[in-house]
Amino acid sequence: MQNPFNPYQPVEGRLFANRKQEQTWFQRDLIPSLAPDSLGTYNAAILGPWGIGKSSLVRRLRYLVMQMMPTPVAMAFTSCTVGFGSMMGFCDAIVNAVRQEALRLSQWDQTLEEELMRWSFEIRLPGISASRTRGSNAELSVSAAEFLRLSLLRLWERAFRVHGNGVLIVLDDVNFLQAIDPQALMLMRAVFQDLHMYQARYGLVITGPVDLFSEARDIAEPVTRFFEHLTLTAFTLDDMYDAVREPIQAVQAPLNVEDDAIIWLWERTQGHPYFVTYVMHYAFQAAMDAHWLILTKAQLRQLWPTIVSRLDQGKFRYDWNSATPSEQKTLVAIAHDHFDRVNRGLVTRLMRKGLVIKIERGQYRLYHPMFQDYVLRVGDS
Ligand SMILES: Nc1ncnc2c1ncn2[C@@H]1O[C@H](COP(=O)(O)OP(=O)(O)OP(=O)(O)O)[C@@H](O)[C@H]1O
Ligand SMILES: [Mg+2]
Repeated sequence: MQNPFNPYQPVEGRLFANRKQEQTWFQRDLIPSLAPDSLGTYNAAILGPWGIGKSSLVRRLRYLVMQMMPTPVAMAFTSCTVGFGSMMGFCDAIVNAVRQEALRLSQWDQTLEEELMRWSFEIRLPGISASRTRGSNAELSVSAAEFLRLSLLRLWERAFRVHGNGVLIVLDDVNFLQAIDPQALMLMRAVFQDLHMYQARYGLVITGPVDLFSEARDIAEPVTRFFEHLTLTAFTLDDMYDAVREPIQAVQAPLNVEDDAIIWLWERTQGHPYFVTYVMHYAFQAAMDAHWLILTKAQLRQLWPTIVSRLDQGKFRYDWNSATPSEQKTLVAIAHDHFDRVNRGLVTRLMRKGLVIKIERGQYRLYHPMFQDYVLRVGDS
């Protein structure tokens, strides 16, 4: 029997649980905004800390898009990385993803394919080829924006408009793009507003950390308003019942998880989707191996030390080693609630690394109680 809990990949299809409010917004507002008769498209920013389920939610969006529209909506998905090297490299990746979608929807029409190849070549000719990417940042961004706008407009006219397909462009982990160019989101806003003016139905969905818009306020403010914000938090106790039971039902495994076991798991993981999935991955395996028909709190307790030591090796050790020796001392001080002993500069660095969260002025906590337990164990040893 296949294990339905996979902590190594964003979750898809029937294994996805909860996030009802976000799904309702997708179905009621975002997806209809891409319909041929819509008055204008919507954009969304899915925000949250690592492992909270951002990538899973955009995969869910793809699933809903496929289910909902009588006319298919094109959905071009790009995971952002600093590996794009420049804004031009990044815009090229988006255009390629959209082109692939156009070809997929046209069922790989050969004439269209040849035509699209020719265009991208032409668009590059007026001096925006990769060899020009050594200019100043501003010059580069303008060229990249122009390339993106022209390409998307042409794709709209030739491939999508005639068939009435709206297009959703999804940029996962858009914060990596800002590392290439801090103006990246401004550029995207400018391009998408222009597309809107030409009635080209492109919607933009991005994912990123909670502080995505908080860095440079003058840039951030107009960009902030451009998106509907969907901020993801951990699962509530109510959510936990579905998060644990729905995947098991999806693979029709003969295993019942007791309410008490779910409550105990929620207390330990605080409903953090990654940790819930991680723990259930091993608990499910153990239950299948031992032919248990029911998973109780006592059994989960018994499995706990093995699961925690796997997490120590597979996750917490790397988090700990990503901190310098003085940052590690700060982690230990925060784990002990000794806030008076911490250096603000070090805390800021730890917050950037996602290891520390600010509760209120002068008060902090580690990103998760299970990591806190780990820090107390290694810090005191
Ligand atoms: N709605 C959900 N239902 C079930 N499992 C989920 C859900 N959301 C997230 N998970 C689980 O949590 C794990 C992390 O989710 P995901 O990769 O989507 O998070 P993320 O916010 O994109 O993380 P990162 O910041 O690392 O990119 C996944 O492996 C998945 O199994
Ligand atoms: Mg992700």
